[in-house]
Amino acid sequence: MRKIKSGVFGLNPLLDGGINENSTTVVIGASGAGKTTLATQFIRRGLESGQEGIFVSLDENKEQIIKEAIEMGWEEILDFIEREQLVFIDASGRDFATFIKKELPAFVADWKGANARIAVDPLTPVLWSTQDRYEQRDLIGFMLKETRKVGTVLCTLEEHGSAGDLSGNETVIPMYLADCVIHLRYRALDDGAERKLKIVKCRNSRHSETSHSYGIIKGLGIVVQRGGEPAKDDRRVASQVRSELAKVSSNLPKSVQARLDKAFSEVRDSEVKRIDPAELIEDILNEYTGA
Ligand SMILES: Nc1ncnc2c1ncn2[C@@H]1O[C@H](COP(=O)(O)OP(=O)(O)OP(=O)(O)O)[C@@H](O)[C@H]1O
Ligand SMILES: [Mg+2]
Repeated sequence: MRKIKSGVFGLNPLLDGGINENSTTVVIGASGAGKTTLATQFIRRGLESGQEGIFVSLDENKEQIIKEAIEMGWEEILDFIEREQLVFIDASGRDFATFIKKELPAFVADWKGANARIAVDPLTPVLWSTQDRYEQRDLIGFMLKETRKVGTVLCTLEEHGSAGDLSGNETVIPMYLADCVIHLRYRALDDGAERKLKIVKCRNSRHSETSHSYGIIKGLGIVVQRGGEPAKDDRRVASQVRSELAKVSSNLPKSVQARLDKAFSEVRDSEVKRIDPAELIEDILNEYTGA
C-alpha cells in the first residue's frame, strides 16, 4: 500500500506514514472543528507535489472556499486555479441523486486514472437528500467508488448531536464504507476550545488508537500534537520553532520554506503554546523529506 502525505503536520505518523493512495477517508467533526481546513490542506499538499486537485463542494460555493483558504494564509490557491491544476465542482443546491448518478460518472470518465486528490466537503447534504437508508448507502457507496477511480478521496461529514457519539445513522453509513475515518472532536469551552483528533479506523495500517490534541494556526492549518500534552507554560514557542527551523530549512522545498517563514513571523505565542517545538520540526521534515 503506497502512502501519500496528508498535508497536516503530525498526522502522518498517526496513520502509519500517511494516507493510503487511492483510498477513501472520511473526516467527521462538529461545526468549527476544522473539516474544511483539513480538506484544503489535503488538496494543497497534492498540488505542491504536482498532483491535480478537485474540490467538490456540496454546500459552500467556490468563492467562499477560496476566501477562507486565503484567510488561512494560502494566497497561492489562485495560481493553482489559474493553471487549472485545481478544479472546483460546485454542486450546492443541486439534486444530489442526479448529480451523483448522472453527472459524476461523466466527469470520472474524463479524469479516470489522473491520480488526483479529491475532496468532498461536506458529504452530509447527500445523506439528507433522502430518508431511505438503502438509497443513502447506495448514493454514498456509488460516489466513493466513482471518485476513487480518479485518485485519493477525502470527504468530510458533519457531526450533530452530543459530541463524540458516532453511532448516529448519518455517520454510520459513510464510516462503514470509507477506508479511513478521522474524528475531529471539538468542544467549545468557556476558556477556549478543546480539540482532539482520533483515528477511528484506517484499513491496512497500524494507526494510532488514542486521542491527540490539535490546534488550528493561520498559515499552517491543523497541527496535531502526537505525544502527550506538553506543559502549558509560557515558553517562547514561536521563536524557538523559528530558530530551530532555520537550521534545517535548507532541506525543504523553497516554496515550503517561504510559507513557514511567513506563518511563523505572524504567529503569536498564545496560538502555539501547546505545541512541542521539537516535535513540530520533526513533523515538518517528515512531511516534506520523508525522514
Ligand atoms: N485565520 C484563522 N486563523 C486561525 N484559526 C482560524 C482561522 N480561520 C478559522 N480558524 C479556526 O478554524 C475553525 C473553522 O474551521 P473550518 O471552517 O475548517 O471548520 P469546519 O469543521 O469546516 O466547520 P463547518 O462545519 O462549519 O463548515 C474556526 O472555528 C477557527 O477556530
Ligand atoms: Mg466546513
